[in-house]
Amino acid sequence: MDREPQVSGYPVHAGIIMDGNGRWAQRRGLKRTQGHLEGLKAAKRIVKAARDMGVKYLTLYAFSTENWKRTAEETGFIMSLVKQHLRAELDFYRENRIRIRHAGDSGGLPPDIQKELSGAINDTKDFDGMQVILAINYGGRDEIVRAVQKLAGMRKLAAESEPAENIAERDIAGCLDNPDIPDPDLIIRSAGEHRTSNFLLWEGAYSELYFSQKLWPDWEKEDLKAALEDFCKRDRRYGAETASAMSA
Ligand code: FPP
Repeated sequence: MDREPQVSGYPVHAGIIMDGNGRWAQRRGLKRTQGHLEGLKAAKRIVKAARDMGVKYLTLYAFSTENWKRTAEETGFIMSLVKQHLRAELDFYRENRIRIRHAGDSGGLPPDIQKELSGAINDTKDFDGMQVILAINYGGRDEIVRAVQKLAGMRKLAAESEPAENIAERDIAGCLDNPDIPDPDLIIRSAGEHRTSNFLLWEGAYSELYFSQKLWPDWEKEDLKAALEDFCKRDRRYGAETASAMSA
């Protein structure tokens, strides 16, 4: 596969809310599950494209904690796609030294998916190439609640009677699902909705947002490239004054 030279200024970590699978199918008179199948194909294209463009971390929002409200047929189908993907693409991940990670509450996943996921994570844990973080049974609020519970549990174990005011941002950040991964520079959402839907709430505090009208199954390499190019033009200030004001 052709590899484009890494463009400096592209995000190190990009997160994607892959939205619009259902609409893609409905517009064609197909079942929603067919949209998810095409969505998975798009996810594969975009992982390859992101790797070629030098994105180091790519987080894909594949299933939210709220998605359990869908029919059993649809949730079961998405879970089977996750399993199928992890099995079918493991060679691709291995060949490209891509490390698979998970964000979300793994304990709330069906046992066979937990097994498949932990197997893929373990098989790729030493790879130093790109990292693909699959957000499955993921909710930003749920992640923060689990982090606080973990922190409280650790302090109880250590019998620390520190005052609550001593809890700092770094303590909570250190208990999130993947504390070693840098915060996403860019969060992309397909299919025209302008919201972040409980995705990377803590980590995305300063992420740039990019919204595209295109439905997720229609996403191609060029769409990712357009998002990354747009990101290059952003002036990131993290709450500080503008660069032009600073130099005045
Ligand atoms: C949102 O579209 C999409 C999902 C809830 C599922 C996304 C899952 C995949 C693409 C497959 C698994 C992916 C990987 C990488 C293992 P929607 O159904 O909410 O679309 P709609 O808003 O048009 O109804």
